Amino acid sequence: MDREGAQAWVPSTRSVSTLAEAARDCRGCELWEDATQLVFSRGPAGARLVLVGEQPGDQEDQSGQPFVGPAGRVLVDALDRAGVDRSTVYVTNAVKHFRHTVRGKRRIHEKPGVGHVTACHPWLEAELAIVRPDVVVCLGATAARAVLGRAVTIGAVRGELLEADGSGPRVVVTTHPSGPTTRRSSRGARTKGPARAGRWRVAGRAARKRRTAPRGSPHRPTEYGPRSAGRPASEAGARGQPPR
Ligand code: URA
Ligand code: SF4
Repeated sequence: MDREGAQAWVPSTRSVSTLAEAARDCRGCELWEDATQLVFSRGPAGARLVLVGEQPGDQEDQSGQPFVGPAGRVLVDALDRAGVDRSTVYVTNAVKHFRHTVRGKRRIHEKPGVGHVTACHPWLEAELAIVRPDVVVCLGATAARAVLGRAVTIGAVRGELLEADGSGPRVVVTTHPSGPTTRRSSRGARTKGPARAGRWRVAGRAARKRRTAPRGSPHRPTEYGPRSAGRPASEAGARGQPPR
């Protein structure tokens, strides 16, 4: 399919809310047609830590806010356990409209294709250029592709501090919060939560370390809370969905 991409709709601005407003009119790919509304981002424009998800889900599509459904609850729990104050984090998605298929009364999530990620990328790029975070956490393979511009195997890079390019933010790739919360340890036993929590701590520590003089934004967050005790990750949320 021929997709024009979002670029023609992206205004030249230093304001995230101006971006979000403009994005409502975006017709850069076909996904707007079947979605209820655009879901842009949430969080302070001066955030040091940006989280990038895949695309809005059913509940996000209805509410207009990112990560308010089951995956959002898993995410909030992970942030809490990593000692990251969620109000200081900027949360967005690689793709801003909900891709799905309708089966009876249900709307079933459908993973966005590379073409959708590419079409929507100008929004993410504009957001990152305004927010200029120290660290970007990619939640899953779709987000990683959007941020890094290439396919990565999550298992091969998780927990590492990567860079998209020499001057940009550092990038951490982790699993999507609607993916499985278990993994195999080196001895083959199934372990839960802590593996993911560890990666979150990597991101939280990196953001703390890079806390240099504020860059003049009135919204710059000031506090990351203490790290909470390492309780296993909550199993709440959309289990049984394929990893993304
Ligand atoms: N999953 C995502 O990747 N993003 C959301 O906003 C909600 C669920
Ligand atoms: Fe535009 Fe992205 Fe929505 Fe496609 S998914 S219409 S590129 S905002």
